[in-house]
Amino acid sequence: MGLLLRAVNLRRVFVQGRRVVHALAGVSLAVAPGEFLVITGPSGCGKTTLLNVLAGMDRPSAGEVVLGDVAYSTLSEDDLSALRRERIGYVFQFYNLLPHLTALENVALPLRFRGWGREAAVRRAREVLEEMGLGHRWRHRPRELSGGEQQRVAIARAVAGNPDLVLADEPTGNLDSRSAARVADLFTEINRQGRTLVVVSHDPALVERAVRVLPMRDGSIAAGT
Ligand SMILES: Nc1ncnc2c1ncn2[C@@H]1O[C@H](COP(=O)(O)OP(=O)(O)OP(=O)(O)O)[C@@H](O)[C@H]1O
Ligand SMILES: [Mg+2]
Repeated sequence: MGLLLRAVNLRRVFVQGRRVVHALAGVSLAVAPGEFLVITGPSGCGKTTLLNVLAGMDRPSAGEVVLGDVAYSTLSEDDLSALRRERIGYVFQFYNLLPHLTALENVALPLRFRGWGREAAVRRAREVLEEMGLGHRWRHRPRELSGGEQQRVAIARAVAGNPDLVLADEPTGNLDSRSAARVADLFTEINRQGRTLVVVSHDPALVERAVRVLPMRDGSIAAGT
């Protein structure tokens, strides 16, 4: 089978006053469909920058990202946003749920943006929350949920639309070890269902469940991996 995702020689340069930071200094990677890849590396080595570029939330200074057969550099901002909405799920370290919406509404809203009818979106949101072990919590707002529960809502939101690719940035970084293990189990389960995962994490719970681990350092992926 072909590759799902390719990054070719990605560079991302930030200018901070007089300092020039090479957050990505030529990163290439290839992800096959169905992989569970974990990227590790010290703080500041460029992990979040890489995920943001892979998600199409940020444009690289040079290099290319290709999802399936679509090269991001050929897309307008609107088309790149549409691609992200349709094909990519993103899980943030701090959940990023909308505080005034219930768990159910948080999961259903992106489906509505993708053109799903109200009933279908609500039905699907209920189903995924159920799968995440949150069937009894769908009426709650984020502040009424624990960190682990909020992250499971965020995972439900990321996978509800059956995206081709799920990206996650330190998804257990803010959780106690029991909640973290539960979230790691959910990622394993999601991957077993055939979904492709690229996760940034130092958490042994996630690293040991990964199918492949790529160490990153100073804006590069270490040679020989
Ligand atoms: N928007 C920005 N403007 C300026 N510099 C940035 C910006 N985003 C990231 N950087 C710099 O790029 C480098 C890589 O940052 P990045 O957030 O990708 O690291 P990270 O590996 O995710 O770190 P952490 O493990 O702490 O989350 C850092 O030196 C950071 O200060
Ligand atoms: Mg980061």
